[in-house]
Amino acid sequence: MKYQKEIERRRTFAIISHPDAGKTTLTEKLLLFGGAIQVAGAVKSNKIKKHATSDFMEIERQRGISVATSVMTFEYDGHLINLLDTPGHKDFAEDTYRTLTAVDSVILVVDSVNGVEDQTRRLMEVCRMRDTPVIVFINKMDRDGKNRFDLLEEIEKELKISLHPMTWPINSGKDFKGVYNLDNKSLRLFTASTKADDDDVIAISDINDKVLDEKIGERDAATLREDVELIETVHGNLNVEDYLAGMIAPVFFGSAVNNFGVKELLETFVKVSPLPQPRETSKREVEPSEDKFSGFVFKIHANLDPKHRDRIAFMRVCSGKFERNKYFHHVRLDKDLRFSNPYSFMARSKDIIEDAYPGDVVGLFDTGNFKIGDTLTEGEDFYFTGIPTFSPEIFKELVNKDPMKTKQLEKGIQQLTDEGVAQLFTQFGGTKKIIGCVGELQFEVIQYRLLHEYGAACEFRSLPFYKACWLTSNNKQKLEDFLRFKQTNSAEDKDGNPVYLAQSEWFLNTEIQNNPDIEFHFSSEIHKA
Ligand code: G4P
Repeated sequence: MKYQKEIERRRTFAIISHPDAGKTTLTEKLLLFGGAIQVAGAVKSNKIKKHATSDFMEIERQRGISVATSVMTFEYDGHLINLLDTPGHKDFAEDTYRTLTAVDSVILVVDSVNGVEDQTRRLMEVCRMRDTPVIVFINKMDRDGKNRFDLLEEIEKELKISLHPMTWPINSGKDFKGVYNLDNKSLRLFTASTKADDDDVIAISDINDKVLDEKIGERDAATLREDVELIETVHGNLNVEDYLAGMIAPVFFGSAVNNFGVKELLETFVKVSPLPQPRETSKREVEPSEDKFSGFVFKIHANLDPKHRDRIAFMRVCSGKFERNKYFHHVRLDKDLRFSNPYSFMARSKDIIEDAYPGDVVGLFDTGNFKIGDTLTEGEDFYFTGIPTFSPEIFKELVNKDPMKTKQLEKGIQQLTDEGVAQLFTQFGGTKKIIGCVGELQFEVIQYRLLHEYGAACEFRSLPFYKACWLTSNNKQKLEDFLRFKQTNSAEDKDGNPVYLAQSEWFLNTEIQNNPDIEFHFSSEIHKA
C-alpha cells in the first residue's frame, strides 16, 4: 500500500456525448473550475470541427494540436483529476471506445433538445461492457427542450440505466429559471455567465419555503413542489454503491455554455466518483495498490507531419509507480524497455515526468514498439483484457499498385493497423487483404501514410460488406465447414480469429439462424481472459 495516498487522490474519467451535445464546452468549464485554463475558448480552438471539413490533412493537423489536450489534468478540492479527451469526429469513434477502457468513470452529456442520439447509444454500450459508472449531464436547458420527465424516461429506456435526479430544472428555454438541488435543498437561479466563480445559490429551509415563491413565482414554485415530491418518493437518496456498480446514474440539469449547473456536477463528481479501480488481466486481477508497476497502451497517435514523424503511445498506469529511465517489461515483445522522455499531458504544457501513479496517463515516445493493448510490467507476464474491437462499417480491398514495393506495403499496413487506424482482415484461404474502417476518412489517411511513410502506392476497391462478426464454436468441424463453404464472406482478423463478413442484416440473420452451433460476436477483445 505504498502509494495509497496518491491513488486516493486520483479520479480518471472521460466526457462522452453525441457530437454537438456540448462535450467540449463542458470540458472547458470544468477546466476553468480547476484553474487549468484561465480563459474561455482555450479548449474550443483545439476541437476537430465536425462539419467544417472533410479534408483529412486538416483534421490530422487539428488532431495533432489535440494531442496536447488528450489528457487534461487539474486539481479540485484536493483531488487530482485526469480528464481523458475523446475525439468528436465520428470517424474516430474507435479511438473513443478504447479510451473508455482507460477511465474509471464517465460523464455523459445529453442535449435536452435532441435527447438520446446514435453516438450516445453506442458509447453507453461500451460503458456497459465494463459496468463503468456514469453521471449524466442534461445540457442546453436554456433552449426549449423535451419535457423533463419524458426525457428521463427516454434516457432510461434507450440507455438501459436507472437515473437518479440530483438537481431538478425549473422550466426550460426562455422560461428557464434555474435548478433546485435535491441533495442540499438549495435553489440556484439561472444567470448566463461565463465566470467560474458564479455562486448564485439561495439557501432555502425546505421546498415549502416562501422564498421559493418570491424567487420563481407562485406557479412555478407549485410545479416544482409537485415534481420534487414525486421524485423524492420515487428515488429517495442516491445509492452510491449502485452508481459505482454502473446500475444508477446521477443526473444533473444545466447549461454548459452559460456555466450553469456545472459546479454541482463537479462537486458531486469528486464526492462519489471511483478512485483508480482494479483491472482484469489474462492471469489475475491487478489492484492499483500493488507495489509493482503495470500499465497498458490504449491509444497510439502518429504524427503525419513529415518533420515530426513521431508516435506517442498513451499508457494508463494500473498499479504501482511508473518511473522515468527505469526498465519495464514489454510483455508481447518479451523485451525490457526504458523511457527517458515520458510525457505528461498537462493542459498547459507538455512536461517530462519523473513518475506516475495508478489512474495517470503517460505519453511514451515510440518508434514502432507498441500496438494497442500492449502491457508493461515489472517482469510478470500478463495482458490487460477487455480492450474491445468493434466491427468496422466500411470494407475495401487493399490493392497494391507497385509490385516492387510489396514488402513495404505489407510492413506499412501491419504497423498502421497496430496503431488502430483500421482493421485488417485476410480472405479465408487466400491472400486478399481487406481493410475495415469506421469512416471514409481513414482510407485517405492510410493511402497517404503508406505512400509517404513506406513508399508504397495502393488503391482501394469497395467491397459489399456492412459488418464483421467474429465467430466461435464448440464444434470445430462445423466452424471450418462454414468458413470453407462461405469462402467469399470468410476472413481472418490480424490475430487469426475467424470472421464472417456479412453483406446485409438479412444475410447475417439468415446465417445466424441456419448455424445454431456457431456464435456470431459483434465485438472482439484484443486480449482475452
Ligand atoms: P461537442 O463537443 O459535444 O461536439 O459540442 P460543443 O461543446 O462544441 O457544443 C456544440 C454547440 O452547442 C456549440 O455551438 C456550443 O456553443 C453549443 N452549446 C454548448 N452548451 C450549450 C448550452 O448549454 N446551451 C446552448 N444554447 N448551446 C450550447 P456552435 O454554434 O456549434 O459552436 P460555437 O460557434 O459556439 O463554438
